[in-house]
Amino acid sequence: MPRPILLTVSRKALSHNLNTVINGLKRSNTNSNNPGIKVWAVIKANAYGHGIEPAVEAFEQANGLGMLDLDEAIRCRQAGWTKPILLLEGFFHESDLSIVQEYDLTIAVHCTHQLEMINKASLLKPLNVFLKLNCGMNRLGFMPEEYAKAWEYAAMLRSNGKIDTLGKMTHFSRADDDPNETQQQLELFKRVAGQFPGPVSLCNSAATLSPQVWSGINENTEQWVRPGICLYGGTPFADRDANSLGLLPAQTLKASILAVRDLKAGASIGYGHQFTATENVRMGVVSCGYADGYPRLAGTGTPITVHGKRTRLLGRVSMDMMVADLTHIPEAGPGSEVVLWGQGGPAIDEVAAHAQTIGYELMCAVATRVPRVII
Ligand SMILES: Cc1ncc(COP(=O)(O)O)c(C=O)c1O
Repeated sequence: MPRPILLTVSRKALSHNLNTVINGLKRSNTNSNNPGIKVWAVIKANAYGHGIEPAVEAFEQANGLGMLDLDEAIRCRQAGWTKPILLLEGFFHESDLSIVQEYDLTIAVHCTHQLEMINKASLLKPLNVFLKLNCGMNRLGFMPEEYAKAWEYAAMLRSNGKIDTLGKMTHFSRADDDPNETQQQLELFKRVAGQFPGPVSLCNSAATLSPQVWSGINENTEQWVRPGICLYGGTPFADRDANSLGLLPAQTLKASILAVRDLKAGASIGYGHQFTATENVRMGVVSCGYADGYPRLAGTGTPITVHGKRTRLLGRVSMDMMVADLTHIPEAGPGSEVVLWGQGGPAIDEVAAHAQTIGYELMCAVATRVPRVII
């Protein structure tokens, strides 16, 4: 028998979350002149750990897919995806452009070096490009004062037949926690890029779920949002949980109780004896540890569900095991089901908060040694 641990990915939850986003966009789009907002479902990093192929199937209703790796883009085409694919960082080497053309990929262009590579390349057909503005994230993108010049360069490449569609994009740095800052970044985007025609792409999950952001764009402009985390059932916000946003967890991590022990008051548990019982405790050893992708920083008090009942972790997470408090779950014993996060257990975002991180990191980090099923 394999070790009792399993990651379950739910296609139904993935589709449900995408539909929740699409319906929210429709509901909040009160302007009848607006042609409708298009959705790039972001599936980078192996679809945030859920697997490219299940995501391609579940996100059938999206208008396009967004990712980073050319290999993942090729897998999407091989899985039958015929709609647009956006490479969020564009291409890395001039030689990538032949793959971009062969697989009909749309590219973000964020620096002059990329424009120069396009200029030098001999292309069989023109490329579809979103020219990226840095509006405050200060990672990728042209600075506001460079943008008009970059646009001029790209427009020249379009006249030379190297670029077909030329769109504009940016990425907000604080859409999850600071609406005022996001509004300022949106105003900067409109001031700098608003004068240029073409489709626009601005919004990650937090901004997509904030109608005041995307509705700030001229209603006649073709607009693409780029939600990621919310499609997997994670919240992008620190102060709103996924459930309140109508999202379902797309991944569920389960394990089992391996052994049960009664500890007397005064006894301690695990490496470093980080937990010492102040009264008698019944504890269960769980078949999951940090080598499975569970965060080691999640300590005593982190929620965990055993035999359908919510309880807490005790002490330090070790490589292959952790300990759950079974004091109030007398019916739990060896072989009892444990839900670390997901359907029937705590939200991944709750576990992440106990480990001083975010649900994104946990989703992406489930180890390859954990068997997975797609349902
Ligand atoms: C350029 C870009 N767009 C969209 C997203 C999706 O973001 P989120 O998962 O917060 O929705 C990301 C993710 O980091 C990104 O880098």
